[in-house]
Amino acid sequence: MEMHMDEVPPRPRASGLEGVIAAETRLSAVDGTAGRLVIAGRPVEALVREVTFPGACALLLGGDAGAVATQLGAARAATHARLGDLGVALDQPDPMDALAAAAAQLRPRGEGVDAAHALVGSFPVIVGAWARGRRREAAQRPDPRASHAEDALRLLHGRAPSPAEANALDAYWVTVIDHGLNASTFAARVVASTGSDLSSAVIAALGALQGPLHGGAPGPVLDMLDAIETPEHARAWLTRELEAGRRIMGMGHRVYRVRDPRAAALEEALRRMGGDHPRLALARAVEREAEALLADRKPERTLRANVEFATATLLEGLAVPREAFTAFFACGRVAGWCAHAQEQAATGRLLRPRARYVGDWPEPATASGHPPSM
Ligand code: COA
Repeated sequence: MEMHMDEVPPRPRASGLEGVIAAETRLSAVDGTAGRLVIAGRPVEALVREVTFPGACALLLGGDAGAVATQLGAARAATHARLGDLGVALDQPDPMDALAAAAAQLRPRGEGVDAAHALVGSFPVIVGAWARGRRREAAQRPDPRASHAEDALRLLHGRAPSPAEANALDAYWVTVIDHGLNASTFAARVVASTGSDLSSAVIAALGALQGPLHGGAPGPVLDMLDAIETPEHARAWLTRELEAGRRIMGMGHRVYRVRDPRAAALEEALRRMGGDHPRLALARAVEREAEALLADRKPERTLRANVEFATATLLEGLAVPREAFTAFFACGRVAGWCAHAQEQAATGRLLRPRARYVGDWPEPATASGHPPSM
């Protein structure tokens, strides 16, 4: 059947890429209907119980947990030694920009696993130095023998965290280390597929993660909890937001049609951290109200809480500054980006999806009469 320009099929909802297989991966898989996340062959709930962050890095990047922990410690020390070379990178108002600028400057050589460890190890040093610089405090010297999570919190606060706090951050990073072909991971794979270097792939991923629809939501989730104050105010506040046409941060997901399994893993980490978490109770109350309101307004969608409510509560419990939440997310996810970039590079295949052209086309169109895909 011949199709003319004014008969271009209606634009599909969302990205139009659903169902398109862009890559093969052995790293992680998301089953959005069943609410399952499998990382390196293990359910995320088991992974968090069984391995530390260096262990999860080893599963994705190769090697064993002890050797990776040593490599990350060495990378933290090496990054600290080069802080003076970073120019204005640490003066950026957003720590995500500081990470991108620092990654561009530090640019570890090679594409192998050493480059990945150098990047993963550098992130908490950059974020800690950035946060302390904002408070006009000097960067702390890393302790290469400390665990990655323990050192990250010390680099941020200038004091050793409790074991429970370090364990909570470690569990957070294991939980978010990888998540299928999400937007930032796809960005990393696209760059890696061109034959570009690992730092460039990570810089692209940072740009994607920064957006509020992806990794930028936990800060706004806390702003929302601040504004709501108590569970009794939740319904009226959320109703006003929805009536104003705004989205509720921390709700909805492109893939999950049930509650994000990472939320439960993080709530468990938070409980193990101990202490009183009135925020968790408020977050759960807001989540319940938001789910009910969204179910009412969008019965055709299943909009459940994503990972960001629990992330916001956990990072707040660790006294991470709100503006550094996404950068702390990146400290964990960078390992997944590196693993995906290396997996993609190993295929030697350029990733080049096509777009459906819906603009005007000069007559005559193509021999078939169809506008071409670009
Ligand atoms: N609050 C209110 N409405 C929402 C919503 C939310 N959090 N999430 C989706 N919707 C609505 C959209 O407005 C849209 O309505 P419409 O069909 O009337 O235009 C419909 O549900 C589908 O939206 P769509 O963008 O296609 O959903 P998606 O599944 O592709 O989007 C997100 C996924 C994550 C981008 C989206 O749910 C969102 O913006 N959430 C808030 C930000 C967030 O928490 N991000 C962190 C993700 S881990």
